[in-house]
Amino acid sequence: MTRVFGILGHPIGHSLSPIMHAAALKAAQLEGFYAPFDVPPRLLPPVVAGLAAAGIDGLNVTVPHKTRIARCLASPHDVDDTAARLGAVNTLVRRGHRLVGCNTDVEGFRQALRHELKMTGEGARVLLIGAGGAARAVGWALQEAGAEAIWVLNRTPSRAEQLRRWLRPHAGTTAVRVVSGRADAAKVAAAADLVVNATSLGLHAGDPLPLDPAWLRQGVSVFDLVYRAPTTALVRAARRRGALAADGVAMLVYQGAESFRLWWDRPAPVAVMRQAVEEALRRPRRGGS
Ligand SMILES: NC(=O)c1ccc[n+]([C@@H]2O[C@H](COP(=O)([O-])OP(=O)(O)OC[C@H]3O[C@@H](n4cnc5c(N)ncnc54)[C@H](OP(=O)(O)O)[C@@H]3O)[C@@H](O)[C@H]2O)c1
Repeated sequence: MTRVFGILGHPIGHSLSPIMHAAALKAAQLEGFYAPFDVPPRLLPPVVAGLAAAGIDGLNVTVPHKTRIARCLASPHDVDDTAARLGAVNTLVRRGHRLVGCNTDVEGFRQALRHELKMTGEGARVLLIGAGGAARAVGWALQEAGAEAIWVLNRTPSRAEQLRRWLRPHAGTTAVRVVSGRADAAKVAAAADLVVNATSLGLHAGDPLPLDPAWLRQGVSVFDLVYRAPTTALVRAARRRGALAADGVAMLVYQGAESFRLWWDRPAPVAVMRQAVEEALRRPRRGGS
């Protein structure tokens, strides 16, 4: 029987997940179907209830629903540990009659870091730019990996402080502090082993860079969660400074691959998924998970 999957978001037309998962299903020769659902926030509870009752096998969840979807499940406690800690769900998996919320962004970042920049984050001093949902997943992955320090820089300092407070109780031996002011940012950027852009700067042509590339020392690793074809301005600038840099394509692919694994209980055809995403990005402008 054909199994049915999809993605819930608003808007959703820009999402690359349908293309990526269609390619995966075809390559793995699985009888499955993956559809985009454009769901405004007020319709989220009835749509989730309807899809669950109709027997949908799994869903991805994207902006703006990641933090609200748990409340639409049969029980708000139907979430795995990572999703509960992050307060964000990006994947729903059918378990019997219930849909269970999971978060594959943490694993997506972890795998992307390992494959693209050949590092785990263990012992690393990290400048984390941004303090939204994605920064939270990145901070969580890095403190779990045993980063030495996470320095949080954000346009709105109070949100950086919120992220610091949220990370601190889980941080183990990782030192977490907020970066304030340009001189401090330049100092920590020069001392960092890894710089992560988890802001939305770079999504649009003409966006300013999230930091001054002159602050980057040669050999530093830079991971930009944003992705564009052929790559982002930050990645290009970082490479010109002699940094090892990667954009967010790999994270998109690995979070999707982890969803696929949860749904099908088998490894995803990652290379095929990546190729589908890269081809789609080369077509007129698209972006978002
Ligand atoms: N590659 C992937 O798989 C993947 C996965 C998840 C997210 N992402 C990308 O990560 C980015 C952040 O996503 P999110 O879910 O964390 O979004 P979010 O919760 O809305 O947070 C947005 C972040 O960007 C900052 N920001 C927005 N506009 C800015 C500007 N003009 N100048 C400086 N900072 C600005 C915000 O700062 P304030 O706090 O000051 O508003 C905040 O830190 C997005 O581009 C998203 O596409 C990629």
